[in-house]
Amino acid sequence: MKALILSGGKGTRLRPLTYTGAKQLVPVANKPILWYGIEGIVAAGITDIGIVISPETGDEVRSRTGNGDQFGATISYICQDQPLGLAHAVKISQDFLRDSPFIMFLGDNLIEHELKSFLDRFIEKQLDALILLRPVENPSAFGVAKVDADGRVLALVEKPKDPPSNLALVGIYYFSPYIHEAIAQIQPSARGELEITDAIQKLIDLDRPVDSRVIEGWWLDTGKKDDLLSANQIVLDAQVVTDIRGELDKATKIDGRVRIGAGSTVKNSLIRGPVAIGDNCRIENCFIGPYSSIADGVTLLDTDIEHSVILRDATISGIKQRIVDSLIGQRARLGEAVPRPKALRFMIGDDCQVELV
Ligand code: DAU
Repeated sequence: MKALILSGGKGTRLRPLTYTGAKQLVPVANKPILWYGIEGIVAAGITDIGIVISPETGDEVRSRTGNGDQFGATISYICQDQPLGLAHAVKISQDFLRDSPFIMFLGDNLIEHELKSFLDRFIEKQLDALILLRPVENPSAFGVAKVDADGRVLALVEKPKDPPSNLALVGIYYFSPYIHEAIAQIQPSARGELEITDAIQKLIDLDRPVDSRVIEGWWLDTGKKDDLLSANQIVLDAQVVTDIRGELDKATKIDGRVRIGAGSTVKNSLIRGPVAIGDNCRIENCFIGPYSSIADGVTLLDTDIEHSVILRDATISGIKQRIVDSLIGQRARLGEAVPRPKALRFMIGDDCQVELV
């Protein structure tokens, strides 16, 4: 059994952050989203992993993630020249996959459930495809399945205007090598992509065994800012335990579960968990409220923040209002130049949003 993680694509919905970086490397609780997927796959006993990357962000994914040693796996990288669809990504990975069954994992998905029990079912029932489904309120934003009472998949459709059910396809799929034959028989969709939903539909049309499971527990497709903040909240809630390696002065108060990395200094601040703070941060005269993730090298001075994700090496100083529900990119600088500013002065990249709420 192998695994194929899709970490290419354009990441348009997380712009501007993804102009310069891969969306799969945006951190949740200070760890790249992609790494949760790798860890989940390794926990299911699969250590031969291929990661599909794009020419634009592939080098960053490769250099941050490495050859797999840190996960106890072997990672191969497969470059997809253009994001021509999920089934196209499988097609160009055939040299890696050969005749092995595999889990396909979309690199921007996070799932609470472990993968092993589904893998056991997939193997035991000798399926050609096992898909995971979850009821959602906005099925039109996903692939959608129509299933009978036994979970047999009757039809699949990608981002339908008129969804046949509320069951969205989770971005985790179990395939036998027969999927390659199905992919060879499909054509690009109206949006110009080779759709994995069409390939699975082809398996169904050919009467091959395709099964589904409805998952419980959380599942997050971290494609957009609010999804990412929800993922951050859920993961901080589930995983942060108090672990303080940095230095705190006497005036600093910690309330709840807080992780602070090595080399970080915190002065005269209140931190109310769950909060994750990385290495080498400088925090002075701040309130850091629940569900905040502060990456390595961040400076926060006279700042009041909660339910937000701050990426590496950003600096925020002297913003008098509380910052909430925010996603702040790498090396961004927000702050006052003088003690009582009379005006606001911005240099903001394309597609940014600044809201006064
Ligand atoms: O998250 C679940 C949904 O994922 C499913 O319900 C849909 O059926 C499925 O098509 C997919 O929809 P998205 O619109 O979320 O797909 P997205 O374009 O965001 O791509 C998912 C991941 O695959 C992402 O990490 C980028 C990567 N990718 C995407 C394409 C189109 C590639 O590596 N290559 C590609 O050609």
